[in-house]
Amino acid sequence: MHGALWGGRFASGPSEALAALSRSTHFDWRLAPHDVRASMAHARVLHAAGLLDDDQLARMLEVLGGIHDDVVSGALQPADDDEDVHGALERVLLERAGADLGGRLRAGRSRNDQIATLLRMHLRSEAGAIRAHLLELVEVLAATAEAHPTAAMPGRTHLQHAQPVLLAHHLLAHAWALLRDVERFRDWDARAALSPYGSGALAGSSLGLDPEAVAAELGFAGSVPNSIDGTASRDVAAEFAFVAAMVGVDLSRLAEEVVLWATKEFGFVALDDAFSTGSSIMPQKKNPDIAELARGKAGRLIGDLTGLLATLKALPLAYNRDLQEDKEPVFDAADTLLLLLPAFTGMVATLRFDTARLAELAPQGFSLATDVADHLVRLGVPFRDAHEAAGAAVRRCEELGCELDELPDADLAAIHPRLGETPEAADAVRAVLTVQGSIASRDARGGTAPVRVAEQLAELRAAATGL
Ligand code: ARG
Repeated sequence: MHGALWGGRFASGPSEALAALSRSTHFDWRLAPHDVRASMAHARVLHAAGLLDDDQLARMLEVLGGIHDDVVSGALQPADDDEDVHGALERVLLERAGADLGGRLRAGRSRNDQIATLLRMHLRSEAGAIRAHLLELVEVLAATAEAHPTAAMPGRTHLQHAQPVLLAHHLLAHAWALLRDVERFRDWDARAALSPYGSGALAGSSLGLDPEAVAAELGFAGSVPNSIDGTASRDVAAEFAFVAAMVGVDLSRLAEEVVLWATKEFGFVALDDAFSTGSSIMPQKKNPDIAELARGKAGRLIGDLTGLLATLKALPLAYNRDLQEDKEPVFDAADTLLLLLPAFTGMVATLRFDTARLAELAPQGFSLATDVADHLVRLGVPFRDAHEAAGAAVRRCEELGCELDELPDADLAAIHPRLGETPEAADAVRAVLTVQGSIASRDARGGTAPVRVAEQLAELRAAATGL
């Protein structure tokens, strides 16, 4: 069957080496159900244009329906010498409908507009599935935040203790990032929702076929306005790969924290047995493999994106065979996320936080020093001086080996008069040196105060509902 779609002007078939290089059925066969659906839509516009009569259309749709069922059931598979999904399906169509009827379907279309359309159909459906998984993860983070409305933890910058925050606030920070990824897929879909069918090889069809009718039947919002762009552009694929890579990167940041949190040194979380692994030699081990695989797969997703961009770089218009290389990266990106997300969500849903340890660590590392400075600012001291004074208090604590709220009155007074000029002044400083007080004081919109975090949780869920 070699050269089945283009044998006419060739005296010989392709060499074995060329056929092997050219073949794409091992990865593009997953597009076969879309290809058959698009063929049905194409048959209808051929009929509308007077190129198939009523009987021919009915028979064509009947055969295509059977092919569709056999593709979906797995009964139909490409043959070794089929070049690509389009060639394989045409071969089967000719076998089942006969050469006269089967040979009419190719009029007015090219594999170039077919493949561009099928890829969009497939990626739109994959993006929908990924969005649903991401929303589940967002809800799991929201529910975990909701279950810990007042638990404090050490907030970090540079991985050093910075200021205490609510665990819920921290978890919701990850949820917002992931929700933006859901939005990105939604926004991407508006660009992916134009059908290139009818663009032909590059210049459009001369047979009076209606691209808008095909687009509508295939669930697109419309057809592309430019046939060259429709067949040659792959920014839709590249953008899909970017959003997938962004998801990978966002997951990897939470993953890295889970890896750290599950160490003896941090001791913030325990992983559920069903979502962690053991060691073949060390009986005591409980490893955060899901989080590590998430971290690793972020690299793979970035590779999918950069590989695809490298393929597209400097390609002249219109279609070039290089574009066959567009599929494996985006297929891999979607497969990777659809494999990773259920495990990742299960891991997050079953994390057990040691809230007592988190609370104990929250004030350590002098994480309330900013509260001392803010206290002085409220007493009218310029922040620059207040910052100096709070820093001096930390230095003194390090000398004495004590915490900020344990500094003697005399030391406070020596550091800044407003800190210790009277016993009442010193007590007022100690009053702000509590984790819950510090957290509650950050009560502007977006802050970690429990009242704001509760509002934030509702805002997140409302935003997620609209997606
Ligand atoms: N298999 C090709 C691809 O994936 C589509 C066919 C276009 N081939 C061609 N020689 N014009 O891009």
